[in-house]
Amino acid sequence: MITIDKKSYIGKGNHREVYRHPENNKLCVKIVFDGSENSRQVIREKSYYKHLEKRNISWEMLSRYHGDVITDMGPASVFELITDHDDEVSKTLEYYISESEITAAHYDELRVLLYEFRDYLASQRIITKTLDPGNIVCQKNEQGIFRLSVIDNIGNLDLIPISNYIDFLAQKKIHRRWIRFEKKLRNEHSDNAPLMRILDKL
Ligand SMILES: Nc1ncnc2c1ncn2[C@@H]1O[C@H](COP(=O)(O)OP(=O)(O)O)[C@@H](O)[C@H]1O
Ligand SMILES: [Mg+2]
Repeated sequence: MITIDKKSYIGKGNHREVYRHPENNKLCVKIVFDGSENSRQVIREKSYYKHLEKRNISWEMLSRYHGDVITDMGPASVFELITDHDDEVSKTLEYYISESEITAAHYDELRVLLYEFRDYLASQRIITKTLDPGNIVCQKNEQGIFRLSVIDNIGNLDLIPISNYIDFLAQKKIHRRWIRFEKKLRNEHSDNAPLMRILDKL
């Protein structure tokens, strides 16, 4: 069992609280707080990570799953932690598009990286349940943002996930998720002019 340092809290979404791993600064620990740890969804997500391992994909823009642990706060999953050059936890894309001034300050980087990110998901054939700016983090070095990574919500919700194995179906699905993601950004951030320009040029 590992003991979580409550001061190492990183953030939370709808299901999990995230902390730094007490023994490894390249990892984080995700603890379910809504009782969904044995839900079909979570089990399916883990089997999707296994599927990606087997396929030997590049993990460049996807936080890798490192198995489960028991913590003093309950059962948890371990993932690669995405950090910036100063060891701070990388901020989400949600943060970088929350205000147009912040987006403008990273305009060139985000334009190129969103393109590369879309390309990565398609070429590595990574299916997301939904793509959400809160589940994508932007990793920074001294120069600025240099990489986007998915940290949550991947996998296939289909009852029979046949598209995991048929490239043509997977590509269609990945494309649909991306279109939905773009639409959502356009709807929810229509007042963010630099973001709209980035999406127009994508
Ligand atoms: N691997 C990671 N690297 C950096 N930050 C992370 C990572 N995983 C999660 N986070 C941070 O913690 C928040 C919640 O994590 P997430 O896995 O999305 O939880 P949930 O399953 O509840 O949505 C994220 O929005 C992000 O800010
Ligand atoms: Mg999330």
